[in-house]
Order: sequence, then C-alpha cells, then structure tokens
Amino acid sequence: MNDPGNRWPFALRRLTPNLGAEILDVTLADAISDAVFAGIHRAFLEYQVLLFPAQDVPPERQVALARRFGEVQIHVMNQYHADGYPELYRLSNLDADGKPNGRHPDKGTLAWHTDGSWRRRTGQATIIYGEVMPRRGGETHFCDMYGAYERLDSAWKQRIANLRAVHNLDFSRNRRHGEDPMTDEQRRATPPVDHPVVRTHPQTKRKCLFLGDHAESIVGMPYEEGRALIDELNALAPHPDLTYEHRWQPGQLLVWDNRCTMHRATPYDPVSEGRVIRRCTVLGDIPE
Ligand SMILES: [Fe+2]
Repeated sequence: MNDPGNRWPFALRRLTPNLGAEILDVTLADAISDAVFAGIHRAFLEYQVLLFPAQDVPPERQVALARRFGEVQIHVMNQYHADGYPELYRLSNLDADGKPNGRHPDKGTLAWHTDGSWRRRTGQATIIYGEVMPRRGGETHFCDMYGAYERLDSAWKQRIANLRAVHNLDFSRNRRHGEDPMTDEQRRATPPVDHPVVRTHPQTKRKCLFLGDHAESIVGMPYEEGRALIDELNALAPHPDLTYEHRWQPGQLLVWDNRCTMHRATPYDPVSEGRVIRRCTVLGDIPE
C-alpha cells in the first residue's frame, strides 16, 4: 500500500485502507525542517494516526515535536510527570529495579476514549513513545470517528445533531477502578465540561462523532437516558474495517488526532510483562 506519486517529503506507507500511515525515513532525534514538518502535519490530518518506526527519541525531542503541533498540555495527574519534563506523562508498571510490579498503571485507557475530552480545550495530537513493550497484549487500537458518524443512519444523525455531552474525568476514572483516586485539588482543577456530540474538525471541516469513555451524561436529558445513549453510540462507533490495531515494538512513536479518532489499550499481564510509555498531549480547540 505505498503512496502513489510523490506528495510527501518522506516515504509513506499506509497502515490500513482507511486510516493510519507509517512515515519511514524521518529521524526524530534530529531537528525536523519546516518542509518535513508540513508533510507530517498534512499526513496527520489525512491519515489520523501516524507511526514512526523504532528509533531513539530523547524526551526533549518528543516535547519539541509536540510543540510543532501546538500548545502542550501539562497533565493534572502530576504523579506521572516523566524525566523532569512536566509535558511528558509516563505510564509504567516497572518498580525501581525494573521489575513488573503487577499493577496496571491506568486502567482507564482500556476503554475507547479520546484524550483530554474532559477539558474545555480538548486534546489535539497525542504523541506516545514506547520504551518497553510486553510480548503479548498492550496494543493500542484506533477507530475512525469520521467514519463512525458517516455510518450512522439518518434517524441517528437527526437525533444527535444538537446534543451536547458532559465529559468528566472523575467519572471515567472512578467508575472503572478505585485505584489512585484523584485528590480534591485535582478534582477542583477538572470540573465537568460539555461538548457537542457531533463536532466539526477545525482543520478538515469534516463532521465526526465525539464521545468516548469520559462522556458521562447528555445535557437536558435524564441521567440514565443519557448514559444509555452514550453507551450505545460508543459501542456503535468502532467498526472493524475502520479500525487500526497497533502492535507495538519498543522504540516506535505514534502520533494521533484526538479530534477524529478514539483509542484504547488492550490488556496485558502486568505481573510478568513490562510496559512503559511516554506520552505528550497537544491542546486543541474548544469543540464546535
Ligand atoms: Fe488515551
């Protein structure tokens, strides 16, 4: 599935017929020229998920790449800050000796979600570098939310056209597991916010569904009715033929567009296997 023609300043290989592309000859440890970054950004808008093959990416280069996309989020869960870079958030199940500690560091990532949807300005790009990866499981799956919207029938489209959903980090964390609860200060810093259920991507101008696991309720609808509607749409959204399932190799880097995709991690055995990732999220717009 090589890209026809010569539209890109690098070699590009599509990962599925619908979304995802691998960028083959960009060295992320080096400074990236404006022309190459412009190509990366165009590919990001077109393919929604970008993969860079295994290579050494120092933390400062990951942050520098993120800054090319926009303002980088400083995460409220400050216990995860990595390498002295508050822009980076490390998820690891290794103890100080490098042995698996048996705990999954963030079970919330196992459900389909979009990063930062619990903020007024939601996540734009997320950039993850895989430091240590398990031999089995620990994959990252992506689904296409343009396609999820386009495949809804007209009755669904009419029903949700003007709905807004309340997104709440405290809800999505606590209903899945009671580990690592948010502090009062963290909770105060992340009050629930509402966003349109159907948003228009600010750059591609295409409509997409915008829900995921942080969506708790629907504005103006009884709570349980809103919960049922969100659960139904979250289950309808991932279509197998519009999904990319990434099986990691250590040293790979993924960039994805949170405005038009959802993602989830698959389980792995945190007792026998290690998994360490470094994540950086770029702030986006207020969804419209
Ligand atoms: Fe995520």
